[in-house]
Amino acid sequence: MSEGKKFYITTPIYYPSGKFHIGTAYCQVITDCIKRYKQAKGYDAYMLTGLDEHGQKMQTVAQKEGITPQEHVDRMAKDAKKLWDLMDIQYNDLIRTTEERHVKAVQKIVKIFLDKGDIYKGEYEGWYCMPCENYFTETQLVDGKCPDCGREVKKMKEEAYFFNMKKYEGWLKEFYKENPEFIVPEKRKNEIFKNFIDPGLEDLCISRCTFDWGIPMPNDSKHVLYVWLDALTNYITALGYMSDDETLFKKYWPADLHVVGKEIIRFHGIYWPIFLHALGLELPKKLYAHSWIVMKDGKMSKSVGNVIYPETLIERYGLDATRYYLLQLMSFGQDSMFTPEDFIERYNSDLANDLGNLLNRTVGMINKYFDGVIPTNITEKTEFDDDLHSCARKQIEKVENSMDEYHVRDAIHEIWKYISRTNKYIDETAPWILAKEEDKSKLESVMFNLVEALRKISILIEPYMPHASNEILKQLGIAKEDATWDSLASYDKIKEGTKIIEKGEPLFVRLDKEEEIEYIKQAMKGK
Ligand code: MSP
Repeated sequence: MSEGKKFYITTPIYYPSGKFHIGTAYCQVITDCIKRYKQAKGYDAYMLTGLDEHGQKMQTVAQKEGITPQEHVDRMAKDAKKLWDLMDIQYNDLIRTTEERHVKAVQKIVKIFLDKGDIYKGEYEGWYCMPCENYFTETQLVDGKCPDCGREVKKMKEEAYFFNMKKYEGWLKEFYKENPEFIVPEKRKNEIFKNFIDPGLEDLCISRCTFDWGIPMPNDSKHVLYVWLDALTNYITALGYMSDDETLFKKYWPADLHVVGKEIIRFHGIYWPIFLHALGLELPKKLYAHSWIVMKDGKMSKSVGNVIYPETLIERYGLDATRYYLLQLMSFGQDSMFTPEDFIERYNSDLANDLGNLLNRTVGMINKYFDGVIPTNITEKTEFDDDLHSCARKQIEKVENSMDEYHVRDAIHEIWKYISRTNKYIDETAPWILAKEEDKSKLESVMFNLVEALRKISILIEPYMPHASNEILKQLGIAKEDATWDSLASYDKIKEGTKIIEKGEPLFVRLDKEEEIEYIKQAMKGK
């Protein structure tokens, strides 16, 4: 591990109000994938995820189920952990906002704000969206509905505490002037400037007295904290900020990257920097606002019958195919559409055909021509070798450049170009003809180059498809320590006498298109 290179990455903390669909799963997978990439590059990477367990919505859901809110969130937390395990999400910590460590620290933070005079008591009136737990002004509504989720809003008025955002408006504008790349993609920053900062910041209502499932205000037990101050601070309370042990906080804060959905960038891009500044803390390095996975008929919704759950895909097609699909689907800054047709198409062509076949053919030929032993004593080369090697060099560089910018989808495309080039190398060199002509040294060279390309590919795909990556190495008989990111440029990692598997299981078996499309469609309808 490189000295001093840390990388603290976070996901949003999810509302545990219902079963998580592939949209939430996407958020987890992209964060996990960036963490794995940084780790592979030698960073001491730390990933935080969590659950946003307070608020009226949780109380309502629990009531419907006939249990207490605590019982409800406990149940949901168990389900969440099970799902993240199934998806092989390598988080270091999962914070729940009902945990004592969080509650205590948040109360201390509020106390600091009260003492500084940043919080005052007033009366709030506005249009309230129950599911989003958020007030809107008249002008923010879209066709009289919630601008975030499109649902009905209700006019409400209540005594409440406010955080004096206006006080920090000048500072915030200055901050963005000096850090124009704080939010990516840039258009998300432009949106919050247009809608919230340029018209003049509104003070933020931070408490409620109409329900009690929340953290009590330290100075007024009639009020509980409104969800955003409670939620945003998770990124520091999880590291032990304001606790007896701030070791993790000192080590990892500031966050290097907060990954959030585009609809909550406003809270992360305005309120979060202001809270941190008011606490005298450093700001995160970057906010990454991803877009949404949408369906043909719009947003995923149970009532429309178009929801797809990660378990459905993982159980039938495997974890790697599911992770791959989600990661290659989402473009930087644009909503992307999930369709069963596209899922099966990508599975068959990218995974079964391109990647699966490359491994299959390579393992088959080494068994056939060299009794399963990878030739390493290379004395000759074919006219196609240089081009294959230069493609490797170029593509590795492009993958790194894309990942360093968090353009995950582009990185995948660059890997697949390398896979295609390697498949083409088989056609160009025609090993079956070399074998017939008994051109042994050339055949050795071709087989070695194929295994070497697969070794590199297994390293490159690890952040996206950790299991396929391992399986490739296993079939080739290469140890994990001979497949580190650092060794991507090397050609001397395959040990003499390395024996490959006798009969490798196909990585991905070609699917029957019609049958599988129908299967996913039925699952979306909840059947
Ligand atoms: N609790 C807040 C976040 C607080 S963070 C301090 C919240 N929770 S949420 O459960 O509603 O959403 C969590 C994340 O899931 C958001 O980033 C949201 O964008 C993401 N997604 C929900 N549906 C999605 C899709 N269909 N596609 C991609 N991501 C989506 O907001």
